[in-house]
Amino acid sequence: MSAANPGATSPQTVHVPLGDRSYDISIGNGNLAEVGRWVTSLRKVTHVVLISDGNVAKYYQQPVEDAIAAEGIRVTSLGVPAGEQSKSVPTAQSLWEAALADRVDRKSTVVALGGGVVGDLAGFVAATMTRGLDFFQIPTSLLAQVDSSVGGKVGINLPSAKNIVGAFWQPKGVLIDTAVLKTLPRREYLSGLAEVIKYGVILDADFFAYLEANVQPMLNRDPAVLQKIIARSCELKAQVVAEDETETTGLRAILNYGHTFCHALETVSGYGEYLHGEAVSVGMLCASRLGEKLGVFDAESTQRQAKLLSALELPVATPKLSETAILSAMQRDKKVEHGKLRFIVPHAIGKVVLTPDVPSEMALAAWREGIEDESA
Ligand SMILES: NC(=O)c1ccc[n+]([C@@H]2O[C@H](COP(=O)([O-])OP(=O)(O)OC[C@H]3O[C@@H](n4cnc5c(N)ncnc54)[C@H](O)[C@@H]3O)[C@@H](O)[C@H]2O)c1
Ligand SMILES: [Zn+2]
Repeated sequence: MSAANPGATSPQTVHVPLGDRSYDISIGNGNLAEVGRWVTSLRKVTHVVLISDGNVAKYYQQPVEDAIAAEGIRVTSLGVPAGEQSKSVPTAQSLWEAALADRVDRKSTVVALGGGVVGDLAGFVAATMTRGLDFFQIPTSLLAQVDSSVGGKVGINLPSAKNIVGAFWQPKGVLIDTAVLKTLPRREYLSGLAEVIKYGVILDADFFAYLEANVQPMLNRDPAVLQKIIARSCELKAQVVAEDETETTGLRAILNYGHTFCHALETVSGYGEYLHGEAVSVGMLCASRLGEKLGVFDAESTQRQAKLLSALELPVATPKLSETAILSAMQRDKKVEHGKLRFIVPHAIGKVVLTPDVPSEMALAAWREGIEDESA
């Protein structure tokens, strides 16, 4: 980067070590312009199937298509409607058919350009088309940059269950441009920050303190701070994934901190009421209060999280919902083993423990105590 651009940050790379499935995440500010050279530096590519949604395509499809085509690569651009409903069998089928109609073959490469929906869907199409195509990700939402683009889980929903049809399919590379976050709606952006805070709580107290010290630059989407928090989040998730790539040892479960309460909240409030990160925010505080009740976590650390989350305009109060409905949603959550409630419980900022056998009344009390007292 030239000295004429003092706000510029040097791009950086996070390595995801997965044996012969290892790959790099390249993170920068303005590096989307390099996408053609980036792809060709990683693989010999002759045909790209570029998949995006309408909101993202509007800004970024043409520049990405042009940069890839400039390397002499044939590009098939396919669009899907924005939103979770595109993670479906009918949409996957329309992509399989459209790719085939434009002469996809076993040497074609899929490039996902979009948020978590496009990443999961395009990754699933890559994993299944002609028994597996090379796959690259260009995540454009903060949630996708720090979470869904790391770890290789790809998939679609059935009307009766989310993420139930899918595969582990690692990308050959991930390119993250912090500049694309400028067009991300504010609520979506703030929601992504909840997962960033989650990494601090589960694995890295220094990172958590860095976030506390950088609230204003985060609200301003400062490129240098964005790059730092995205890179650290990717590193932390990559470490966990590297130790438990296919979710067999249980280590990967720590990434679900706050998520049992979060999923219950999402289910009972009706999907769409809370953005995912907003429900994570509420859920992490429930899990923290649960830690207090179990005698392993202190109230001051719960308060530190609440202060940081609310400074970033995330919800911290539990809404008033039927406790019976919340409990039955928690019992259906996949972290329930043999009928017992299991939670990822914090012991300190930077350390969490998978805790089986939590009494349901204690979990409900942790939920209930987050309800704001209207008379206060
Ligand atoms: N694979 C995994 O490990 C994993 C992990 C977490 C979440 N997920 C999945 O991720 C999905 C949620 O991802 P998400 O929050 O990114 O949702 P999303 O893909 O729907 O994106 C959110 C909204 O922002 C828009 N958008 C994205 N980038 C933009 C940009 N730069 N400028 C303007 N608009 C932009 C999208 O069009 C959409 O309207 C869910 O389906 C979830 O299941 C997967
Ligand atoms: Zn999450």
